[in-house]
Amino acid sequence: MASPKITVIGTGYLGATHAAAMAELGFDVLGLDISPEKIATLERGEAPMYEPGLDELLRKHVAGHEGASGRLRFTTSYAEVGEFGDVHFICVNTPQKHGEYACDMSYVDAAVESLAPHLTRPALVVGKSTVPVGSADRLAARLAELAPAGEEAELAWNPEFLREGFAVQDTLHPDRLVVGVRSERAEQLLREVYATPVAEGSPFIVTDFPTAELVKTSANSFLATKISFINAMAEVCEAADGDVVKLAEAIGHDDRIGKKFLRAGIGFGGGCLPKDIRAFMARAGELGASEALSFLREVDSINMRRRAQMVELTREAVGGSLLGKRVGVLGATFKPDSDDVRDSPALNVAGQLHLQGAQVTVYDPKGLENARAIFPTLGYADSAIGAVRGADVVLHLTEWREFKELDPAELGEAVATRHVLDGRNTLDPALWRKSGWTFRALGRPTA
Ligand code: UGA
Repeated sequence: MASPKITVIGTGYLGATHAAAMAELGFDVLGLDISPEKIATLERGEAPMYEPGLDELLRKHVAGHEGASGRLRFTTSYAEVGEFGDVHFICVNTPQKHGEYACDMSYVDAAVESLAPHLTRPALVVGKSTVPVGSADRLAARLAELAPAGEEAELAWNPEFLREGFAVQDTLHPDRLVVGVRSERAEQLLREVYATPVAEGSPFIVTDFPTAELVKTSANSFLATKISFINAMAEVCEAADGDVVKLAEAIGHDDRIGKKFLRAGIGFGGGCLPKDIRAFMARAGELGASEALSFLREVDSINMRRRAQMVELTREAVGGSLLGKRVGVLGATFKPDSDDVRDSPALNVAGQLHLQGAQVTVYDPKGLENARAIFPTLGYADSAIGAVRGADVVLHLTEWREFKELDPAELGEAVATRHVLDGRNTLDPALWRKSGWTFRALGRPTA
């Protein structure tokens, strides 16, 4: 039997990566986005965001590029997608609703409703977006109602676990594949699609719809909890003059705890963890299970407190009032190797300082354009040295490698006062102190 033809609906972070990865695995792929600009960018072989390795993968496969496999094409037409595909991946985003905890399902609903009328022959629609548990059940009913193929147009749920900055690697070599299915046929089709990663060792876990949906939200909740746990320990270390970095290293040696995701600092941000734990709490409330997730409220508040503590440390560093003080900020994105500033703790701290009267200048290797777009009133510089020139205090807020490699002696020549605050706990205190800097970090002793 010929390989299934694949479509990917929504070509943002998840979709653009998934489409390119599917082409890399040897499938013919058609990507759809409602934004013609995004499609034009992808057709040029460029990712719509900064993601290491993705531009290369696109150029390797997007039709029309010299030497490309031609297996990857893009369109804005649902009719074309319906005609082309056997397996349709829904990769649109599910942001937090404005002013509410719940997640906004309108893009997923619109994708299913736009695609369904074009499904005239057997097809599998596979949801990858992060959704509240129960959504797949509801969408399956909607699909059966709207698709001319009726029951031959089936739904499956296959959550995605990729991390920004590692999206290509995580998609091609997933640490597990989870599929929620209702038929043998759906399972077989997905086994075919993922045959290569499964042959290379990725576990393939078959389950029902609600469990598949819950695996995703519970995994992100666990990660968020782990970060807030270590940040809570940072608060205690601050009170007791302990060192959270040593503490994390020491508890991480216990295999049951593990070393990863125990880096204390200004906390988690981005387009996933914060909104996912909130949407999970909102959904649990609807299901009458809010008590089960009440700890997530604490996880969220510990996380937000760390940003406030960074602002407080900055105020202390400049003598009690931020008014007119110059603050040099290193980092704007929510994590390194990304240009994403959505719910970025770094940008949030910079913004709070600005609103309290400080003169803030931000530098980030990849995030400046996005930061400027959402926070145009902050000052921006195109280098680390430019951001810290004349500064009364320097804040390290996103742990780009470039910042770890900075020469504190050289930076010291540019600032007004050698005072640095590490919000990510990746700078070496001894190195900075040696060059005459006053070094403070969240959850670490003052000297
Ligand atoms: C997260 C999950 O890690 C992915 O598995 C998931 O697929 C994805 O969300 C999603 O739902 O799509 P991502 O948002 O790319 O991935 O970022 P993470 O690497 O999880 O980092 C999230 C935030 O936590 C960042 O702001 C990071 O700086 C912070 N963090 C991470 C810490 O503060 N400390 C740590 O030890 C680790």
